[in-house]
Amino acid sequence: MAITLAFDVYGTLIDTNGVIVALQKHAGNKAPEFSRAWREKQLEYSFRRGLMQNYESFAVCTGNALDYTSSYFKVPLTRADKEELLGTYGILPAFDDAKEGLARARESGFRMFAFSNGSEDAVQTLLEHAGIRDYFMGVVSVDAMKSFKPNPGVYSHFLRKAGASGADAWLVSSNPFDVIGAVSAGMRAAWVRRSPDALFDPWGIEPTLTVNSLADLAEQIGRKT
Ligand code: LAC
Repeated sequence: MAITLAFDVYGTLIDTNGVIVALQKHAGNKAPEFSRAWREKQLEYSFRRGLMQNYESFAVCTGNALDYTSSYFKVPLTRADKEELLGTYGILPAFDDAKEGLARARESGFRMFAFSNGSEDAVQTLLEHAGIRDYFMGVVSVDAMKSFKPNPGVYSHFLRKAGASGADAWLVSSNPFDVIGAVSAGMRAAWVRRSPDALFDPWGIEPTLTVNSLADLAEQIGRKT
């Protein structure tokens, strides 16, 4: 059975800290901290909306989180500033190791999909802009389920859409909550730990595999299968 890979998008293929440059003109040297807080709030809002069964798109979570973060840091943003920042969020860059890792995975014959909280349109635009869309057989969005990762239903949705089973499908993600969600839902999962400072949640649910770079992914998955 061919192995299927579900690549997480934001934070794994695409660098959410790509907004820091655009944030600098508003938040100065607090821009990196602002970016991190914005990202954390965006994810918190997705978790809460999933639990509350009060779905709005990931773009709405991102916009609401930007409003919250600008108030928290006392960085006033006009409507035009917010539109500009959200526009930047729609065309974030890929991580440096993304192309090489994807090319090697394709050479290894894996079936590759992008799998994201983002809407299909948003993810298509991001991947195209970053020059990595063509590596994938398709984009699977949680949007069809009106819920977010790590709801187990969204991982089942991925498997259905990709025509795969948990035993032969791997989530590839830098986000520990996503890795834990996938393993808990019966998939395999590779944690992409680009920095030694990245921590994994101590829940007793471990990644099937940990890699330091997407460039090593294909070889290491090949050894485990
Ligand atoms: C995604 C989130 C986890 O792309 O950032 O699904």
